[in-house]
Amino acid sequence: MSERKGLAPSLWAPSTQMGLVQGHQEMIVRGEGAYLHTADGRRLFDGTATLWFANIGHGRADIAEAAARQMRELETYQIWGGFLHPRVVELSERLTGPMSPIPDAKVMFGSGGSDSGEIAFRLARLHWQLQGRPSKVRVLSRHNAYHGLHAFGTSLHGSRAVREAFGGGPLVAETGYIDRDDIAAVRATILEEGPENIAALVAEPIIGSGGVHPPRPGYLAGLRALCDEFDILLVFDEVITGFGRTGEWFAGHRYGVVPDLTMFAKGITCGYVPLGGVFVAPKVWEPFWSDDPDHVYTFGVTYAGHATACAVALAVLDVIERDGLLGRVHELEARMLAGLAELARLPRVTEVRGEGLMAAVRLDESVSAQELARGLRATGGTLVRPIADNAVVLSPPFITTDEEMDRLLDAVGEAVAR
Ligand SMILES: Cc1ncc(COP(=O)(O)O)c(C=O)c1O
Repeated sequence: MSERKGLAPSLWAPSTQMGLVQGHQEMIVRGEGAYLHTADGRRLFDGTATLWFANIGHGRADIAEAAARQMRELETYQIWGGFLHPRVVELSERLTGPMSPIPDAKVMFGSGGSDSGEIAFRLARLHWQLQGRPSKVRVLSRHNAYHGLHAFGTSLHGSRAVREAFGGGPLVAETGYIDRDDIAAVRATILEEGPENIAALVAEPIIGSGGVHPPRPGYLAGLRALCDEFDILLVFDEVITGFGRTGEWFAGHRYGVVPDLTMFAKGITCGYVPLGGVFVAPKVWEPFWSDDPDHVYTFGVTYAGHATACAVALAVLDVIERDGLLGRVHELEARMLAGLAELARLPRVTEVRGEGLMAAVRLDESVSAQELARGLRATGGTLVRPIADNAVVLSPPFITTDEEMDRLLDAVGEAVAR
């Protein structure tokens, strides 16, 4: 047990080795645009948009005002069993309009990305139960996947160690894994497992936390075709990619693929309050618009469609539209890719990967990604995130300027050279 005394002796942080961080925590006290300020007076560029969410930047008065206005009027009322409030109506109409990743979709809300997974994967199973196909219960994810850490998400996690950490195998036994890149291998797995046993395949269009892996050309369309051929629901997890990180509202638009369910969270509120949810295609929602008492999806959380969260989401969408941030992401992507190509030439860089405003720089064994990130934070005024495979992630906010993008890439390059 660590003897060091931390800054927060009573706090147990998520997925954190508490014995290691005691005495090393970083206290963030203020946010302003693309920058964060620490308790000891440093100003750090948020090179990862925190955990891929601070897309419109920190500390915005317009978003704070939208939240305060809504809280004064009605912080929220629950939307179970026939109640509504204006903001959840406005938001669901807006989301299912032209920006929707799925035509004629309905939208169901939760409180974050892990909730979105629970909503989507249970619904996929229920869908097949109602179709009279009870054996279709398995959900398959890609290697390197991350779909949150509720029971389903943990069971679909890209790492076996995470999946099986809690005893007795995965928490949800009816889960399995498909190849990340090779569509012929995915077909082989479907045939092996038996399509009659499979409810859904789930994919992050660009794998995020598992290392920033853009899809191989044709892979996502290949999943769509296999799902059509074998009567399997296709779920896209757009918790990171949704709401602009690929320069389109959704990555499904960018890659020209329409799934049956789309999970979202993060970018819809850009961190100002928690909110997530799922878009649902007509073939899945239609049976539930029925008088049949069996056709109820018995699932939901207290704060589904929380009014203040919906008000914030509407204000965030206004900012993205008004400030042309989708176009800005395309510009920043081009600049980032050019900078990555330069980084790729450095001796200790073994690989660079990037698409949209998401990138990973992989390092050889002479440089530790952990130490590089720590050094940049301490001396370079820049936050990047170390991930598995000795890589660092870059995923800056959409409001990043050209100069800030160049400085971010330069800072990584200089740290690697050091
Ligand atoms: C692709 C993806 N899905 C789901 C989640 C889970 O979201 P949350 O942490 O809000 O539950 C994450 C979180 O990083 C994610 O990256």
